[in-house]
Amino acid sequence: MELRLAEVFESICAVQADIDEPLCAYVYDLAALRRHAANLISTLPEGYELFYAIKANSDLPILQTLAPIMDGFEVSSGGELAWVREHFADVPVIFSGPGKLDQELGEAIDQNVDCLHVESFNELRRLAEIAIQTGKAVAILLRINMVVDNLAETSLMMGGKPTPFGISIQQLPECMRWLRAHPEIRLRGFHFHLLSHQLDAQAHLQLVASYLRQVRRWCDAYELEIDHINVGGGIGINYRQPHQQFDWSTFSAGLSALLKNSGLPGIRVRFELGRYITAACGYYVMQVIDIKRSYDKNFIVGRGGSHHFRTPYAQGHSHPFHVIPINAWQYPFPRPEISNEKANIVGQLCTPKDLLAFDAPVKSVRCGDLLVFPYAGAYAWHISHHDFLRHPHPQQWYLPIEEQPHVANQST
Ligand SMILES: Cc1ncc(COP(=O)(O)O)c(C=O)c1O
Repeated sequence: MELRLAEVFESICAVQADIDEPLCAYVYDLAALRRHAANLISTLPEGYELFYAIKANSDLPILQTLAPIMDGFEVSSGGELAWVREHFADVPVIFSGPGKLDQELGEAIDQNVDCLHVESFNELRRLAEIAIQTGKAVAILLRINMVVDNLAETSLMMGGKPTPFGISIQQLPECMRWLRAHPEIRLRGFHFHLLSHQLDAQAHLQLVASYLRQVRRWCDAYELEIDHINVGGGIGINYRQPHQQFDWSTFSAGLSALLKNSGLPGIRVRFELGRYITAACGYYVMQVIDIKRSYDKNFIVGRGGSHHFRTPYAQGHSHPFHVIPINAWQYPFPRPEISNEKANIVGQLCTPKDLLAFDAPVKSVRCGDLLVFPYAGAYAWHISHHDFLRHPHPQQWYLPIEEQPHVANQST
C-alpha cells in the first residue's frame, strides 16, 4: 500500500497554480489503487475470493479500476445495486445490509445477484414470498451475529454483542427448521461481519478461524451442504500511526493453513473489504485560509471541512496530514504562520465539531499553504454531509493509470 506522494503533490500544485481562490479538493490515485488491489488478489491463497464493499467509495472511476481485478462487488442498498448494474452488467454482485425493502429484494432477484445476505428471520420469510412470486429459487447466506470467545474488540463493533445486524445465533435453529420446508430459498452458507477497523493480522486470522470452526459445527449439526462462507470486511487503516498498517503479508500467508485445517473441503471463503481497498488511494486537500490563536491553542482554518471529509470526526481520530508550502502571498501585511507548535486543523463550518486534526505537531504552516490528508479514499466524501452551509463541493480529480490527470469536476 505504497503512497505515491510525489505524483499526487505534483498534480495538486499544478491545479493550485491555475486557480485564483483557495483550493479544496479530493484527489484519487487510480494507478496506486490498481496496484494495491492487484497485490491483494495475487497474494490471496487458493480457495479465497475478494469482493469490494462499494459503500466505502462508489465513484465510477474507482469501480472501473477495481472491476477487472476483484472477484465482484458487495452492495448494501437498491441504489448501490442499480449503480453497479447500470455500469457493470456482468460483474458478480452480492447484496448485504439491514432493512432491505421488498422492492430491493425483488430487484436483487431480477438483477441476478450472486448471493443475498439475509439479516433477519422476517427478511428471510419476505424473501421467500417474493421468490415464489418470481418463480426463481434464491441463493442466500444467513448473516449470523455470534459471540466469539476472546474477541479483541475494535472501535467499530457490528456483532459479538447486541446490534441491529444479522441473525442472533439463538435464532439459528428456528431458521434452519424453516429453511428445510422452503426449497425456494437455497442456503449457500453463512455471512459474518462482526467488526471493522481491525489492525491486528493475528487477531483477524483468529477471527476467521473462529468463523470456520463454527460453520463446521453447523454443517455437522444440520447436515448442510454449503459452498462458501463470507467473512465480511473489517480490515482497518491505522490513521493514528500511518507507518504501522495492517500486516497483509502475515495475514494472507496465514489464510492457507486455516482453510486446509478447517475440515470444510471444497468450501470457498469470501472477503468483502471496503476501507482497506480504497482508503489509501484518496487525498483530501485544503488550502489554509487563516491561522489564529485562541487562548492557549492554535487553530489552522482550511478551505473545506468535515462536510467534505467527515472521517476524522466520525472515527474520533486526529488525521495525519502533509504540508505543501506555497510561496505566493498577495497582501501588504505579514503572512500569518506557526512553526514548531501544536495546532488544531479546522474547516469553515460554524461548529466546534468541524475538527480534522487536533494537538497536531506542526513544523511550519503559513496562510496559503496546502494541507494534504492521506487515507481519504474510503468513507470520506461518501459519508460526509456535503450541503451543510452550502459551501461549494471540492474539486475532484483522478490520477489516471497511464495518462496525465484531468480535472473532472470544477468547484463553482
Ligand atoms: C456487511 C458489511 N460488509 C462489509 C463492510 C465493509 O467493511 P470495511 O470497510 O470495514 O472493510 C461493511 C461495513 O460497514 C459491512 O457492514
